Amino acid sequence: MEKVNKFKFKINKIYYYLFKERFKSKLNFEFPENINRWDLIQKLINLKNFQSYLEIGCDGDDSFSKIKVKNKIGVDPYSGGNFRGTSDFFFSQNEKNFDCIFIDGLHEYYQVLKDIKNSLEILSENGIILLHDCLPTSLHKQAVPRYKNIWNGDVWKSIVYYRTLENIDIVTCKIDQGISAIRKVKNKDCLDLKLDDFSKLKFKDFYFNHKEYMRIKDYNDFLKYISN
Ligand SMILES: C[S@@+](CC[C@H](N)C(=O)[O-])C[C@H]1O[C@@H](n2cnc3c(N)ncnc32)[C@H](O)[C@@H]1O
Repeated sequence: MEKVNKFKFKINKIYYYLFKERFKSKLNFEFPENINRWDLIQKLINLKNFQSYLEIGCDGDDSFSKIKVKNKIGVDPYSGGNFRGTSDFFFSQNEKNFDCIFIDGLHEYYQVLKDIKNSLEILSENGIILLHDCLPTSLHKQAVPRYKNIWNGDVWKSIVYYRTLENIDIVTCKIDQGISAIRKVKNKDCLDLKLDDFSKLKFKDFYFNHKEYMRIKDYNDFLKYISN
């Protein structure tokens, strides 16, 4: 992972406080302690008999090393995986399709939008895109620019945008910081939200509307939904 700069974090925190948002209330999703992102990924690979896996952002390979599948590629500019470079660079030269794509790279709205768009183009017909860190519990965990070590970023805003499209179905599993699943099927619960710029959404909006925005399900209900 990129080195953390404490001074930059302090500046970012002041900037966020002065110019972006101040909101103190926190959420508590009560994520189960015994179900991790790699458990869900492997479960889906087995359930759907997926043959190929792409992970964007691998860090210490906590997930990548555990996933058992015929073909796997892990992309990271700094550490882990088996492809050294950014997701943009990977997609610019890639010619393969994938059954399961796990997006867990740079957790900033515009990058995540791009990663989702590029992933949709190479997703197999019945494939699934998963995104990590979709359910932040506090303002500072989702603040961009980042000023906390434990950080989800504003991935959730990209999900809210894609939830408004008719040909994409999204549901979010309430485990391990929140994992959203995107499939190229008709949207069964299209979000009616018209905004010119989804990046301008505030944590306060997420706090009050997260159920409607994210379509949150617990692990078993999520698996039932995805199996159908
Ligand atoms: C949260 S970590 C990934 C954790 C890993 N997926 C896991 O499950 O343990 C995020 C990673 O994204 C990488 N990253 C940052 N910018 C990126 C980019 N533009 N493209 C791909 N990966 C990126 C970072 O180097 C970091 O290792």
